[in-house]
Amino acid sequence: MAAKMRLPMSSPPASATALVTGATSGIGRALADELTGRGYRVLGTSRDPQARHPSVHAFLRLDAADAADRKRFLQENREMLYKIDILVNNCGEGCFGDLSSHPGEAVTGAVQLLLETPLQLTRAVLPGMRSRGGGQVVFMSSLAAVFPLPYLAIYSAAKAGLSQFAAGMEMTEDADGVKFLDVQAGDFRTGFNRNMVRAGTMSAREAAAWKRLEALLESGPPAERAARAIVRAIVRNRGGQLRPGGFFQTRVAPLGARLLPRSLLLRMIRRYYRLSRA
Ligand SMILES: NC(=O)c1ccc[n+]([C@@H]2O[C@H](COP(=O)([O-])OP(=O)(O)OC[C@H]3O[C@@H](n4cnc5c(N)ncnc54)[C@H](OP(=O)(O)O)[C@@H]3O)[C@@H](O)[C@H]2O)c1
Repeated sequence: MAAKMRLPMSSPPASATALVTGATSGIGRALADELTGRGYRVLGTSRDPQARHPSVHAFLRLDAADAADRKRFLQENREMLYKIDILVNNCGEGCFGDLSSHPGEAVTGAVQLLLETPLQLTRAVLPGMRSRGGGQVVFMSSLAAVFPLPYLAIYSAAKAGLSQFAAGMEMTEDADGVKFLDVQAGDFRTGFNRNMVRAGTMSAREAAAWKRLEALLESGPPAERAARAIVRAIVRNRGGQLRPGGFFQTRVAPLGARLLPRSLLLRMIRRYYRLSRA
């Protein structure tokens, strides 16, 4: 039987290939740049069949919110997925507003995009990684996984599920040499707020929360900073949890979420987003 090859810690093997979902914008594009700069061969996904970016070797079309399109993607790219050394489950979009303001299909699509697709892609790359004795799966989760955001309940729920999936995989997969990295990112300045799906007309409370949320995102650090931290962890073949972002969001807020009584935490978040009732 052929000896299993472990991926080296400090530099990628000449042929190491990374697949970054959602590599056209924000953190995904910055990750593609950073990984290419470190010598990885980067494949990306986009919904746009015309997508191009210099540091992405090739783009593959995928609408991750559409179960049928994901099925096609998995079937058409089976061989390529077997060869992936690093999978970065990055693509995502928020769905802001009161739950009833979004059609049922939009709710399903958001869960497909943020949760089901990363699970299915992970399932598709694992056999190849295991056969080579190593690999890495990165999940772009969010601080929202532990610190729920108002009017982003679907997003918060999906990210919490994603982080729990990463933890569950980490517990059992170490023996195979595959690493799972749960990235609970704070706010970064990207296209995220501009691309967010929102109800046509917002109530006064929604508008107040949106204003706060958008201000936080717009004043966040650039995507390149998140990408550098994530790629450092990839190069070191690290699993576990990573919290890139500002000090308050990545240190104080998660600690508060862990230590504060739930009712107090929710009250504080409500007040912060100007949702407090008189
Ligand atoms: N920005 C932040 O503050 C922040 C914080 C925590 C976590 N995150 C997470 O980081 C990830 C990247 O977000 P970003 O801030 O870089 O946002 P972004 O600039 O809006 O980029 C989102 C990427 O996801 C792709 N995407 C969106 N919907 C898709 C769909 N239905 N199917 C396939 N691809 C889709 C887009 O590609 P196409 O349009 O080309 O298809 C785009 O490349 C997301 O998972 C987000 O939840 C972001």
